[in-house]
Amino acid sequence: MSIAVVCPGSFDPVTAGHLDVFERAAARFDRVVVAVLGNPSKHGTFTVDERCELIEAETDHLDNLEVDRFEGLLVDYCNRRGIGVVCKGVRGSGDLDYELQMAQMNRRVGGLETVFMAASPEHAFLSSSLIKEVLRGGGDVTGMVPERVEVALRDRLT
Ligand code: PNS
Repeated sequence: MSIAVVCPGSFDPVTAGHLDVFERAAARFDRVVVAVLGNPSKHGTFTVDERCELIEAETDHLDNLEVDRFEGLLVDYCNRRGIGVVCKGVRGSGDLDYELQMAQMNRRVGGLETVFMAASPEHAFLSSSLIKEVLRGGGDVTGMVPERVEVALRDRLT
């Protein structure tokens, strides 16, 4: 049986923690679709196209991974694409509370299953918003995002 999973998120921008999950998912599943949520009424640090381009550049070596965007409900997107499994990274108990609730809702509303991938310990403290805060304050974020993402962030935020 061939298993396709979706890794959904805002990815504004993608971090080393997200990329670790994508890489590990691509090693375990037949096909991985990274789906970037596009919210027309909410403008982030990067546009959805920019976020997709950054992820594409960092995942170019993964032949079974594609980057896409979606709007509306994740269950509708997955049904359209014929994907039945969501793969989400979990950094700790705070994430798990929130992710479990979403997983249960997605299963109830659209029959989607969710698998949780434990974040690598060295990435467990990373979040896009904290990295942006540190960068804005002049702190060092080396290794928390790929170099290309750091350059883009510095260009946008400082
Ligand atoms: O990176 P994030 O912000 O934690 O990602 C959250 C995301 C995009 C996975 C979640 O908000 C989502 O799936 N949004 C799409 C709308 C939806 O389906 N909402 C119901 C979730 S149960």
